[in-house]
Amino acid sequence: EKDGFAHYMQKEIYEQPRALRNTMTGRIDTTEQKVIFPTLQLSEASAKRVEKIYIVACGTAYHAGLIGKHVIERLAQIPVEVDVASEFRYRRPLFQPNTLTIAVSQSGETADTLAAMREAKRNGSAVLAITNVVGSSIARDADDVITTNAGPEIAVASTKAYTSQLIAFYLLGIYLAQAKGTLDADTRASLLQQLTALPDQVDHILQHADEIRHFAESIKDEQHLFFIGRGLDHAVSMEGSLKLKEISYIHSEAYAAGELKHGTLALIEEGTRVIALATQDELHEKMISNITEVKARGAKVLGITLDGHVELHRSVDDVCLIPQTDALFTSVLGVIPLQLISYYTSVALGNDVDRPRNLAKSVTVE
Ligand code: M6R
Repeated sequence: EKDGFAHYMQKEIYEQPRALRNTMTGRIDTTEQKVIFPTLQLSEASAKRVEKIYIVACGTAYHAGLIGKHVIERLAQIPVEVDVASEFRYRRPLFQPNTLTIAVSQSGETADTLAAMREAKRNGSAVLAITNVVGSSIARDADDVITTNAGPEIAVASTKAYTSQLIAFYLLGIYLAQAKGTLDADTRASLLQQLTALPDQVDHILQHADEIRHFAESIKDEQHLFFIGRGLDHAVSMEGSLKLKEISYIHSEAYAAGELKHGTLALIEEGTRVIALATQDELHEKMISNITEVKARGAKVLGITLDGHVELHRSVDDVCLIPQTDALFTSVLGVIPLQLISYYTSVALGNDVDRPRNLAKSVTVE
């Protein structure tokens, strides 16, 4: 059932090209160069009225939501707040008319997410679920559902569910932009073309997994390490850090690279391992100076950057290259090496990769 893979997690990492294609299937009108959601109640006419969006989710799905915020704000110019579901309920969020709440959940059974979306409903908000499980509690309770269609995810550490949630957000961002009229036709066509190229690009990165395995083996005895990044890369770093903690039990922290000098630099010493994600053109120079800051304190840095960013190669100890795509889409590619790092580190440590200690696949208690 693992199709020759050693673990479900590895199988699910390698299933990502197919999972991402499945998330897109039937949702792109190639003649019109538009996103369509045939089963959605939220028509373009009603989407046009949305003025505020809340995204609620837990863990990895929350990290996907952080990317969703950037994407929706950038493309559709609707303000978005993202909340950890277990916090949202108790912080008395303010609801204005024309608020849409998006609940993101692989399993569709996470109790905290379900409770948060019910709170939103009670306050008159429409609820849209992004989930991988048709007929789950969250799918049933929502007004609308976008299924991710990634196929069953067995490993506790979420991988293909996350990247397919990102695709769902890209599609939704473009759909909302169509409704709001915030994106010209050429830009939209170019985005759709780059979106459909992502599965093959993920496949390309997976073919170089061996290089990442060597890196993972080199960090297995570390006590702690850092992930740094800016903007979308910061959100992806949070996912990389969670994944590493979850299955390798090595402590790590994801830090917004610009915040380092406000305290965290004190923890960088000779030999501290840092994974720096630098896929955002606009922030590239800033990232190089943040990398120089940690290097000057003795850090050993792995840089993950776009093919062609030669300048960064010179400032890091190791480099991992990902293919070029639009700045909004690099997260899908940047997370792949991070998933592989956590996977191979866990394997090197002899851990139970698919069933890490103390954790459950689906958390149905609050
Ligand atoms: O099924 P859900 O997406 O609602 O699950 C949410 C989290 O429990 C889940 O993403 C968790 O963080 C993963 N084990 C992380 O890999």
